[in-house]
Amino acid sequence: MPAEVDPNFPYGLDRPRQARATAGVGMILGVVTLVSALLPGAFDGARALFVLVLLLACLSSFVISGGLFRTASASKVKAADRLLNGLDLRGDEDALDLGCGTGLMCAGLAVRLPDGQVTGVDAWIEGQLTPNGHKVTKRTLSLAGVKGVTVRTGSIRELPVQDDAVDLVVSRDVLALLPSDTARVEAVRELVRVLRPGGRVALLEPFRTRIVVRELRTLGLTDATRSRRRWTTMPPLRTITATKPPAPRG
Ligand SMILES: C[S@@+](CC[C@H](N)C(=O)[O-])C[C@H]1O[C@@H](n2cnc3c(N)ncnc32)[C@H](O)[C@@H]1O
Repeated sequence: MPAEVDPNFPYGLDRPRQARATAGVGMILGVVTLVSALLPGAFDGARALFVLVLLLACLSSFVISGGLFRTASASKVKAADRLLNGLDLRGDEDALDLGCGTGLMCAGLAVRLPDGQVTGVDAWIEGQLTPNGHKVTKRTLSLAGVKGVTVRTGSIRELPVQDDAVDLVVSRDVLALLPSDTARVEAVRELVRVLRPGGRVALLEPFRTRIVVRELRTLGLTDATRSRRRWTTMPPLRTITATKPPAPRG
């Protein structure tokens, strides 16, 4: 199915502090590099190496901050679209987006699931996405022309959702931001609890993916796998997929 969400619609800046801090560090390093390069004897022996290291550090900072800002525009919409297009959805599934932020994945789900129910849950954690909040998300989805999404405030470690309630759980860049592996394990247990037998998991995560896959397998989702990193967003993301086994017959 082709992407039907606007790839340029703004869904907020992830990790805003890191994005601004790395841009600031890049600028400071740029000035220091320039001053060092203009000093007499800057390119003699060990000093030339020092200038080169400064230059590389400066460029790296700009690459990281540029990547973070670029991800806020089209890159993360494309990453979400790629994930959702790969799921081959029927259109009547009930889906849950963990840590929905301003509704990027909810919007992509809503256009693909005209006969299903889409719910986003977020605790609106300060400093992880800007702007963020229940009202911001409702407004963003409305501006994007998306209808019928339920947005709920709550923790993904204690989901405000019944057992066996959804056919699909998705998420992008949320489990990695939890404070510990214990928290990640709790979140994985919760997402498996709310999945119906036969339901699917599709996550995009940059870090700590091994522990997520391990917990999914421990909970009986034996087909749980993670892909290689894709460098189209900053930080680069891996896709984690799994299926909850169907209920035993009889
Ligand atoms: C980097 S943003 C990603 C937002 C969204 N998934 C997207 O793709 O645009 C991380 C989001 O996870 C949410 N979050 C972090 N920890 C959470 C928790 N324990 N429960 C619910 N939401 C959480 C934050 O509030 C934030 O909206």
